[in-house]
Amino acid sequence: MLVPVILSGGSGTRLWPLSRKNQPKQFLPLVGERSLYEETLRRVSSLPGADGSITVCSEDHRFTVGEQLQAIGVKSGGIVLEPVARNTAPAIALAAMHALARDSEATLLVLPADHLIEDEAAFRTAIDTARTLADDGWLVTFGIRPDYPETGYGYILSGDALVDGGHRVARFVEKPDLATAERYVAEGSYAWNSGMFLFKAQRYLDELARFAPAMLDAVRAAYSSASKDLDFIRIDRDAFAASPNDSIDYAVMEKTDRAAVVPVSCGWSDIGSWSALWSVAQRDSDGNRHEGDVISVDTRGSLVRASDRRMIATLGVEDLVIIDTPDATLVARKDRVQDVKTLVDRLAADG
Ligand code: GDD
Ligand code: MG
Repeated sequence: MLVPVILSGGSGTRLWPLSRKNQPKQFLPLVGERSLYEETLRRVSSLPGADGSITVCSEDHRFTVGEQLQAIGVKSGGIVLEPVARNTAPAIALAAMHALARDSEATLLVLPADHLIEDEAAFRTAIDTARTLADDGWLVTFGIRPDYPETGYGYILSGDALVDGGHRVARFVEKPDLATAERYVAEGSYAWNSGMFLFKAQRYLDELARFAPAMLDAVRAAYSSASKDLDFIRIDRDAFAASPNDSIDYAVMEKTDRAAVVPVSCGWSDIGSWSALWSVAQRDSDGNRHEGDVISVDTRGSLVRASDRRMIATLGVEDLVIIDTPDATLVARKDRVQDVKTLVDRLAADG
């Protein structure tokens, strides 16, 4: 059985002021009518052999998740609630245990809730290849051809071919520095780690036992006392809080010798920042993306999003991001939007 696991625990700080603590970006309709989470649910519900997606999210977002699941009307395999955030490695371990309780042979397709995939047919072909590899015990990541030296991504060097369209990972480097990322992009033999994975649930837990035994013990303790309340799975807070905080990338993918990569061109995009959103949006002939009541003269390469509250007018500016909401407005240079996180950290510190 193929069990989609949707990781929906991120805070989406870089999309402030639209993305907020109680309503982070994955639950907002940023591209099109539906939220990124709803789009992810819809995408996996039509995968052949997929059954009952498991969502792993913060306890604080349970009602939003419940509502959006219902709005899409797909079969749910449960919503596992994290009492505290411990990053992706423990979140995936919870999903693995939950899937194994249903099927001891379960294969997990791990998907972040906030990615865009334009070519679903290409994505499905890649999943088929990945399933063949997972059946042989490989932990598969999907690789994307890089088009600039992004330092917020993991990089994968492909090794020997294992099957048609699938390779052994020769090297996995999570978030290299800029000079290294530039070298990787120039070399042409590296792919971005998309953050989407496919493997047997048991295989993942076996790797955790090897590389992060304390994490596995903590998650096991937290899940063993789980209780079900409607579609929600509640776990033990203290036991889960005792887990080390680590991502799947650092805890497992960088360490395992059973990592495989399936390169895919599926119009993938991680909507991680305002500039990323600008680059996937439809733009006018001046390269502007306007949403809401916006007028602009001699403006280029900008993303301007008005709220219902007021009109926004721009004149003689370039490469700006302007996002208005009822209680906060962001004005930033488009090449500085990665630092919105710093801004939000400052706001939090100032209370
Ligand atoms: N449930 C849950 N709990 N989900 C989480 C948690 C958590 O504690 N932490 C993160 N997530 C979710 C986020 O919402 C996001 O959808 C996904 O897991 C990945 O987490 P990020 O925090 O966005 O990771 P990243 O962007 O730093 O890096 C990862 O993704 C890149 C591609 O987007 C890595 O896998 C990189 O190697 C990769 O290139
Ligand atoms: Mg991310």
